[in-house]
Amino acid sequence: MPSTFIAKGATAYEASMGRWSRKLATPFLDFAGVPKTGRVLDAGCGTGSLTLALSAHPGLIAIEALDFEENFVTALRARTEDPRISARQGDVCALPYEDKSFDAAYSLLVLHFVSDADKAITEMRRVLKPGATAAAAVWSYGGMPSWRLFWDTIRALEPEAEGSGIPSGPRPMTAEGELRALFASAGFADVIEARLTIMMDYADFDDFYLPKVYGQGRFSAFFDGLPAPRQERLREALRLAYLDRRSEDGPRGFESMAWAVRGVG
Ligand SMILES: C[S@@+](CC[C@H](N)C(=O)[O-])C[C@H]1O[C@@H](n2cnc3c(N)ncnc32)[C@H](O)[C@@H]1O
Repeated sequence: MPSTFIAKGATAYEASMGRWSRKLATPFLDFAGVPKTGRVLDAGCGTGSLTLALSAHPGLIAIEALDFEENFVTALRARTEDPRISARQGDVCALPYEDKSFDAAYSLLVLHFVSDADKAITEMRRVLKPGATAAAAVWSYGGMPSWRLFWDTIRALEPEAEGSGIPSGPRPMTAEGELRALFASAGFADVIEARLTIMMDYADFDDFYLPKVYGQGRFSAFFDGLPAPRQERLREALRLAYLDRRSEDGPRGFESMAWAVRGVG
């Protein structure tokens, strides 16, 4: 299986992650750079956060988007009428494109879900024209406070959730230097790493809690299988953690960080 990402549908993805990847797409493209014209690739496009950010660049001639999840590809197609965008199902480890055929290649929040990230990065380099840039980003394991608050509370109260869909430790490449090292070993030149930050702003506790339980991954099955009192105990602990000693529910923002890398092919 080339992907370790467990999808629950495009709408759930949008609520739990797409809204943040849409925000991250702007600083990511600022860091990566977008060619004035030409053909670009969004490898692991999901529901299209980065693809749609690319379509705001009028000089681009073609934007190829590819994802392993067919229903994400369908959702992206439904979100755009830009004739330059072509979306398809596929595997980033076996890109269905010619050698040296892209003026830039991007992968946003994907490589830590790819079973063979080395292969995916090598593929991104293969399809790049000489001298063109590839860039990728992954969330920092330590840089996602709202997610750590969520998972750490669950771990403390429901240790048996371990192995049932809660992260069992850092995913590969989510620490400083790891993605940079993979880009360098794939043969990219001038490899540069950067920290990108966005605010994850939640409207209220439900906006924080519901998409995290039901948005993606296997945790919702574990949660739904808990007896009602344990579900309620967990929900209340998470609510208190979210409120952080305030008496009123309401908006809360968490600065969140991703590692980004770019290199010249
Ligand atoms: C966290 S999502 C990011 C999606 C999108 N780039 C965004 O920023 O919203 C991770 C995506 O990687 C895709 N993915 C994981 N492994 C893949 C593979 N081997 N080939 C293609 N897509 C893959 C998943 O299907 C999922 O859409």
